[in-house]
Amino acid sequence: MVKAKIVLLPGDGIGPEIVAQAARVLLAIGQKFGHDFQCEEHLIGGIAIDTHGDPLPAATIAACKASDAVLLGAVGGPKWDDPTAKTRPEAGLLGIRKAMGLFANLRPIQTYPELVDASPLKREIVEGTDILFFRELTGGIYFGPSGRTTKNGIEEAYATEVYSVPEVERIVRLAAAAARNRRGRVTSVDKANVLEPSRLWRQVAARVMKNEFPDVGYDVVLVDSMAMHLISRPRDFDVVVTSNMFGDILTDEASMLPGSLGMLPSASIGADGPGLYEPIHGSAPDIAGKGIANPLATILAAAMMLRYSLRQESEALAIESAVKRVLASGARTQDICRGGPSISTIVMTDRVLQELG
Ligand code: IPM
Ligand code: MG
Repeated sequence: MVKAKIVLLPGDGIGPEIVAQAARVLLAIGQKFGHDFQCEEHLIGGIAIDTHGDPLPAATIAACKASDAVLLGAVGGPKWDDPTAKTRPEAGLLGIRKAMGLFANLRPIQTYPELVDASPLKREIVEGTDILFFRELTGGIYFGPSGRTTKNGIEEAYATEVYSVPEVERIVRLAAAAARNRRGRVTSVDKANVLEPSRLWRQVAARVMKNEFPDVGYDVVLVDSMAMHLISRPRDFDVVVTSNMFGDILTDEASMLPGSLGMLPSASIGADGPGLYEPIHGSAPDIAGKGIANPLATILAAAMMLRYSLRQESEALAIESAVKRVLASGARTQDICRGGPSISTIVMTDRVLQELG
């Protein structure tokens, strides 16, 4: 039996709806396997700005650090989009990643046979795609020196990409270790033909792979051609490791391969300590409060939490196979129904719970 303290950060938009449903699944799996999961809710994002004037209140950071794992919904929405605002919901997300030292963002892109026809790409291209992205999450241009200056009366803005050797080493090591349990192939993505931090990245990645992972296949692809390869031959990639910003962009692109953003979970982990788990999709303000959001990405994020933070592989697999069976039975939320009948957020979760038994 495992006792675990789980912090829930519902956030904005559809966040509260989907996190509530994933929490039901977590509690059910705890009961089924005899664990004691305690869930505790805290504020992040726009709702935290509205109530505390701060997208990441100190109490939220403290609770997350004291937990075994964190489940996050989504942050942001048009209400907080004013570019001149003092602070933004997204600052809460970036802040919690940094505060918890979550330097690796794992984004699995897997296709489900039943949903392949919902992909904007042809079945023969996407079918069988199975990629695990390792996006660096606490460095690069997101966190380098940035600001505004005025030179000769002309206003400028700048953001700087900085990477250190240890920052590259640790993410490449995680990616390569993961490849050993998969198809044994790592692709590192950079822009080494133009950017100095990319040249450092490429150098360090090559050394780590050669010295520490000689058994793992390794190649390098420039980010612009990767954007192309991802939609022309996605099946050729196993583990992909890349910087914060390239990872942000490429994973959104890749998320279209399986057909719906509503299916994709992600895990953010550090060297030790709790990890943070969330769906890849955002707060979807257009459908917030309607009860129609797809809860499966968040439910699958809860499965990743069980796997990576609580070390409960069987429990994680139980959730993942329940989701597969629910899809195979034809259950669809609106985002994946392709004009056919659809069910609500809650009913979809009920179906997963039924499958879990
Ligand atoms: C993501 C999001 C975030 C990011 C935003 C909301 C700050 O796009 O998790 O991919 O850019 O990292
Ligand atoms: Mg993104």
